[in-house]
Amino acid sequence: MDGAAMNEQVFSPDAAHERDFRDALGRFATGVTVVTTHSDKGPLGITANSFAALSLDPPLVMWAPGRFSRRFKAFEAAGHFAIHVLAEDQLWLARHFATDGLDFALDGVTTGLGEVPLLPGCLARFECRRHAVHPGGDHAIVVGAVQRLQTRAGAGLSFFSGHYGRIDAG
Ligand SMILES: Cc1cc2nc3c(=O)[nH]c(=O)nc-3n(C[C@H](O)[C@H](O)[C@H](O)COP(=O)(O)O)c2cc1C
Repeated sequence: MDGAAMNEQVFSPDAAHERDFRDALGRFATGVTVVTTHSDKGPLGITANSFAALSLDPPLVMWAPGRFSRRFKAFEAAGHFAIHVLAEDQLWLARHFATDGLDFALDGVTTGLGEVPLLPGCLARFECRRHAVHPGGDHAIVVGAVQRLQTRAGAGLSFFSGHYGRIDAG
């Protein structure tokens, strides 16, 4: 198949191509996480697909809160936070924390290191202490030092081209 048949296009990420730039970024398939912390308004959560593995030694992970979010300040300042990798059957949690960060009227929530609220049933949970926060344009890059983990088996929740899906372990 040639480029025309595949609808290929080349462009610069300027104001006229904002939508195309977003669409291009969405071509990178990710998992879906919920990041939680203890804020001065109480337990706070946010759905995020910017999570990435960073370092094995020392054990570091990262994610990127957006400055557009009303929750940005709390996450940028958080001394402790937890990153929950969602299972396929936790799509509702992704929707929940994309809409409302303060509603923790959920079954099975416990408290972890640094008073951080912990959600049950995730594929992996990384309890982190703030390691560094770097500038990242309209986002910040938050690096966490992993203090404690929990894992379980199961299918993962994916996000690709604006749609949720399922990832099976091989
Ligand atoms: C699949 C998905 C991934 C998201 N990833 C991020 C992210 O990495 N960083 C971020 O700041 N917001 C992310 N969001 C948006 C937030 O979950 C939330 O919707 C946004 O902060 C809403 O703004 P508010 O805090 O002002 O209500 C994502 C939303 C969805 C549905």
